[in-house]
Order: sequence, then C-alpha cells, then structure tokens
Amino acid sequence: ERKIIITIDGWSSCGKSTLAKELAAELNYIYVDSGAMYRAITLYFLRNHIDWTDLAAVHEAMQNVELEFVYNPAHCRSEMHLNGENVEYVIRDLVVAEKVSDVAAIKEVREFAVAQQQRMGNNRGIIMDGRDIGTVVFPDAELKIFMTADNAVRVERRFQELYKKNPNVTLEEVKNNLELRDYIDSHREVSPLRQAEDAIILDNTNLTPEEQFHKALKLAKERI
Ligand code: C5P
Repeated sequence: ERKIIITIDGWSSCGKSTLAKELAAELNYIYVDSGAMYRAITLYFLRNHIDWTDLAAVHEAMQNVELEFVYNPAHCRSEMHLNGENVEYVIRDLVVAEKVSDVAAIKEVREFAVAQQQRMGNNRGIIMDGRDIGTVVFPDAELKIFMTADNAVRVERRFQELYKKNPNVTLEEVKNNLELRDYIDSHREVSPLRQAEDAIILDNTNLTPEEQFHKALKLAKERI
C-alpha cells in the first residue's frame, strides 16, 4: 500500500481539522494543522511587541521562532509548541485570531512555515489542512479537498467552540472575525486562499461529520 499526501484547504471554520484528524486516525497518517503555525508566530509577535509592518523587525524576530508539533499522549494529538512552550490552547484565542491573517500575509512568514511543512511531508503519509496546502505546499498531492460551508453555519460552529472557553464572546465578534480572515486570506498577494484546479469540493453545510468522513475516506482509498 502506497502512502499519499492529502491536502484539505478552505474557508475558516469549515470543519477542516475535524475531518483531517479523523482521516489521519483511520489511515494511520500524520495530521498537521498548518494554521497552528501561523497562529503561533502571531502569538510570538504579539507577546514581543513586534511591529510586523516593519520587514526588518519581522526578519529579526523570525530568527527566534522555533515551532514544533509535539505528540501529547494524554490528548491523543500533536500540539503546537513555540520555543519549547505548549501554546496549543492560547493560540485558539480570539486575540490571536484577530491578527493572524495579517501575519500570515507576510512573505517571510509564509516561506518559513511552508519550508517546514514541506519537510514534514517528505515521507508522504500525511494530511495537512490550511489555505494554500494544495496550491503551494504540496501541489503534487494525490488527493486535494476544498471545503466550504454556508457562512451562518460556520459562524455558529466557531461561536459554540469559542463560547465554551469564554462565555463573554459574542456571535457578532466571531462573525466579524471569520469574514475579515476570509477576506484577507483570499485577497493577499502571497499564496491567497483559492481552490486548486484539481481539488474536489466538499460542501458540508448539510452533511454530518460522519457523512463527510465517509466521502473523504472513499476518495482517499481510491488513490492509495
Ligand atoms: O486554520 P486556522 O483557522 O487555524 O488558520 C488561522 C489563519 O492562519 C488563517 O485565517 C490564515 O490567515 C492563516 N493560514 C494561512 N495558510 C495556511 C493555514 C492558515 O495563511 N496554510
């Protein structure tokens, strides 16, 4: 059985990571959440008061950023570590989400992240989700999925997720953040979010997680 690369790109909060995790567990593949890397870099910039409109400051800051996915057996998943610190929880905060699309639009930041992502895929047998995985990171992936869902459905899903952690969060805030990120992500100059020509669209507005999983698993098995 050969090992393939599966990419899952799409709009914010479409359920990309849920699907990717389930597929990876079923196929015994590595799952990589590429967005966690952009979020961790954003966290570093925020904490260290880096002015990311200053490219020299960005260049200097990037010398001090080390990202690593570390498997946590207690949670049965890999978690994002920034310079040795587990930041998996804090990078999900809305404070980070509000700035991440600006940081992810910076060329040097993307080059840093993409190089590391490509190294992780050297041995194939990997599922990575993000915005430019099928177009830029692994243009030769055997299976490319582009996920989409109704806006209102996406807002509600992300709101439920964030509300569990912070009951002060409002639906309006979450809606604004998703719209802003999708706009910036799809309009930036460097590797904007777009569907790869050979990607298969998965619209999950009316699909349960289980139905999506079975569709995607079938597509994967046809290619293995
Ligand atoms: O996937 P997630 O929503 O955690 O990603 C956070 C942000 O990171 C996205 O809104 C986007 O700005 C950026 N991102 C990116 N390219 C990727 C993955 C994420 O630009 N491959």
